[in-house]
Amino acid sequence: MSVRHLLEIDDLTADEVGAVLHLAGHTNPPKILDGCGVALVFEKPSLRTRNSTEMAVVQLGGHPISLQANEVGLGTRETEEDVARTLERYHRVICARVFEHQKLERMAAVSRVPIVNLLSDQSHPLQALADLLTVQQHFGSFEGRTVAYIGDSNNVSRSLALACARTGMTFRYGCPPGYGPSDVELDLVTSLGGTASVHDRAVDAADGADVVYTDVWASMGKEEEAEARRRAFEGFTIGAEVMEAAAPTGVFLHCLPAHRGEEVSADVIESGRSLVWQQAENRMHTARAVLMFLVELS
Ligand code: CP
Ligand code: NVA
Repeated sequence: MSVRHLLEIDDLTADEVGAVLHLAGHTNPPKILDGCGVALVFEKPSLRTRNSTEMAVVQLGGHPISLQANEVGLGTRETEEDVARTLERYHRVICARVFEHQKLERMAAVSRVPIVNLLSDQSHPLQALADLLTVQQHFGSFEGRTVAYIGDSNNVSRSLALACARTGMTFRYGCPPGYGPSDVELDLVTSLGGTASVHDRAVDAADGADVVYTDVWASMGKEEEAEARRRAFEGFTIGAEVMEAAAPTGVFLHCLPAHRGEEVSADVIESGRSLVWQQAENRMHTARAVLMFLVELS
């Protein structure tokens, strides 16, 4: 049986997404990683991903080892392939947060153990699975739901759009001109059976939506664009007006970290409609589920 990796949501079929979400409910799972290591390599900072994934490994009886980029030199001190072929000798799963998505592909091409994407410039699948779990817990099902992602079209929105396609939810992007999704991404969403539309006003994207979602305007690695982006994203803050445009039962999600006063107002993120802490907790439950799923299959 060939090894399975998770680099993007569409590495999982719709049924497999459902299976992972089901596994996320196993809060007292078997110790399937007893005596095993899981490597976590980080080229960028992390609070949620490192802590949630490390704790997921512990809950499965394994031992997580987190490594910072400067002690690994992924692609500089040695090649991505050599790093993967070394780490697989110690670990049952290799996880990595990288700038260039291609680094993960190079590791996955040679690794005999699963490679898990902890965020790349292209995608953030573990985040999208936690987002799905949060929506499922809150609404009971995905049927007929609309998710409005408002802000910078980025790694988080791409994985979320694919996750919506996999679960039958309608997806809307609300982005200023020049910051929307590529045609290639839109075609991918469509090819997965998804429905996506692009809007250049936040209230239009949010209109009647069940979920209003946002992320930072300047992702890690784009900090030098922060000032220009603050100007470009004027009018895209999720505040009371945007939440009023959503469905009366609509909720607010954010992958975090949040910048209050930029992509979201303090009032909205602290409101009763905000599920961001439940969403952050779900990172651990879905990380554990992904490890269970991949280890079982590989
Ligand atoms: N949402 C998320 O991935 O958070 P971290 O960058 O803190 O891991
Ligand atoms: N888009 C953000 C997500 C952080 C979790 C970034 O890449 O920095």
